Amino acid sequence: MERDEHVLITGGAGFIGSHLARTLLASGRRVSVIDNLSTGLHSNVADLEENPNFRLYVDTITDVPLMQKLMLECGTVYHLASAVGVRLIMEQPVATIDTIYQGTEVVLRLARRYRNRVLITSTSEVYGKSEKVPYCEDDDRVEGSTMKHRWAYACAKALDEFLALAHWKENRLPVVIVRLFNTVGPRQRSQYGMVVPRFVEQALKGEDLVVHGDGEQSRCFCHVQDVVQALISLVDAGNCFGNIFNVGSTEEISIRQLAEKIVKQTGSDSQIRLIPYSEAYGDGFEDMRRRIPSIDRIQKAVNWTPTYSMSEIIDDVVAEVKSRLSGGAVEDTVSF
Ligand SMILES: NC(=O)c1ccc[n+]([C@@H]2O[C@H](COP(=O)([O-])OP(=O)(O)OC[C@H]3O[C@@H](n4cnc5c(N)ncnc54)[C@H](O)[C@@H]3O)[C@@H](O)[C@H]2O)c1
Repeated sequence: MERDEHVLITGGAGFIGSHLARTLLASGRRVSVIDNLSTGLHSNVADLEENPNFRLYVDTITDVPLMQKLMLECGTVYHLASAVGVRLIMEQPVATIDTIYQGTEVVLRLARRYRNRVLITSTSEVYGKSEKVPYCEDDDRVEGSTMKHRWAYACAKALDEFLALAHWKENRLPVVIVRLFNTVGPRQRSQYGMVVPRFVEQALKGEDLVVHGDGEQSRCFCHVQDVVQALISLVDAGNCFGNIFNVGSTEEISIRQLAEKIVKQTGSDSQIRLIPYSEAYGDGFEDMRRRIPSIDRIQKAVNWTPTYSMSEIIDDVVAEVKSRLSGGAVEDTVSF
């Protein structure tokens, strides 16, 4: 198989990475994954190991000799490995900065040497506290104080973006940056602070759905399959390098409405309980009221638009969480 047809996914045993791996395998590509299983799970990709076109390396992306070998073999790198989730970021601030910045530095330095095409996953967090919605890629960023750990994630990701764009400018490294907004779907775990699987688990267990703050903060949730299509299209287009693209849904919902919708869709008799942010994350936590992407740029570039509604997303998560809670296997929406 050609080097171009061989893809490396860092963080490929994680939530988004494991869906990306399946879709790329289904399209006939060879896929190598490197993941240290810090927040990812072996079970997310265990079934793929029977496929001769799939290889899993359980290791860290800062292992330079291994990364050299992998990046020499692969034409394209989807760089997803990262510290992820509000809870983890608040509890492990040093590891958050180290993983994000050092990992991306290794990927970009080696990509320059071996001329890989690279996609870097950044985040809507880089917009910070900006109240100007929808967020456009060229907007100013409004970050909070460095005394507040939450902003370390956004700043480390922004530094990744600067480094990627610098490699494009100085070396014409073919790198594209995506700013992911809230992405949800099967295999996302609740323990790192992800709201949809947490609410679904609470509803299915008949527990209170615990909403942080007043619940009027809103978000837009995009199905992971839509996100995966966006990532692949941006790389395959070949003319999106040197640019940044928002990827997310524009369907806005408040967290309180989300909780109510999940209670209704699961037929649960759970109650909704509000708690202050300080109780959930300790002092020094700040949150944004609204976060809506402008997706004009990606629509124009590759004609991408989300296809799943909020109700369909919840149905998919409910089916998976039900199956997991009863000890069953996770069903995939993509076959190969
Ligand atoms: N899910 C979202 O809503 C969302 C939103 C914005 C940005 N993102 C970005 O998308 C990417 C994927 O996120 P996800 O939701 O799939 O999270 P995830 O935690 O499921 O995936 C991240 C993966 O990276 C792995 N990893 C962490 N450090 C590593 C290291 N040093 N070496 C090798 N592997 C390592 C983890 O084990 C995990 O499998 C991340 O870069 C994240 O910042 C996700």
